Amino acid sequence: MASALREPLRVAVMVSGRGSNLQALLNSADAPDSPASIGLVVSNVPNVQALERAKVAGIRTEVVPHRDFDSREAFEREMSDVLESASPDIICQAGFMRILTPWFIERWNGRLINIHPSLLPAFPGLKTHERALEAGVRVHGCTVHMVRSEVDSGPIIGQAAVPVLPNDDPDSLAERVLQAEHRLYPTCLKLIAEGKVQIGSDSVFLATDLCDERQVLLNPAAV
Ligand code: GRF
Repeated sequence: MASALREPLRVAVMVSGRGSNLQALLNSADAPDSPASIGLVVSNVPNVQALERAKVAGIRTEVVPHRDFDSREAFEREMSDVLESASPDIICQAGFMRILTPWFIERWNGRLINIHPSLLPAFPGLKTHERALEAGVRVHGCTVHMVRSEVDSGPIIGQAAVPVLPNDDPDSLAERVLQAEHRLYPTCLKLIAEGKVQIGSDSVFLATDLCDERQVLLNPAAV
């Protein structure tokens, strides 16, 4: 149960680029009563917009450039050491574009979550919006899930759905999904921080009172 005495959840965020999801997390964590506190933003790419966003918010940033390392393992060991320095309860991947080895995932087992721009298990991997349009789905969306060594798999924490419109192209659909991402990720993180969604090493427990059985997205809409 949420408690006024609960310590804020310590959060680290892994990024590689634009950082619009990071921004949504920063905005939410900035609320005076936020149950989550972002202590570190770490990027594997220097000079990206996400780092600027973190600096503006006064959050510590680190860069661990993967290109500087001889092996994926060496890169991940350094990344892990940097993360450890922030003692995170949860690590959010937010547009982090490197595939992680089982070693790293095991090291942070139960604490590593990601946002993916599709309704998993549909469309894991890249170019999700193109593939959703090709497949002709009427509903698309995004997923926050725990990270497993199989890419874009892992127990689902939350999902947000949006309609696919007749004139959509990948960019217009991506924009609609991105707006949903910006609502879903902070929502999931807040619920985790409040202890309302429990994430274990292999499972996610969601309280039934968080779910609204009347919510249906019809596309085409009912006439
Ligand atoms: C988002 O669509 C996210 O779902 C995917 O990469 C994109 C990152 O965008 N993993 P941003 O860096 O958060 O703006």
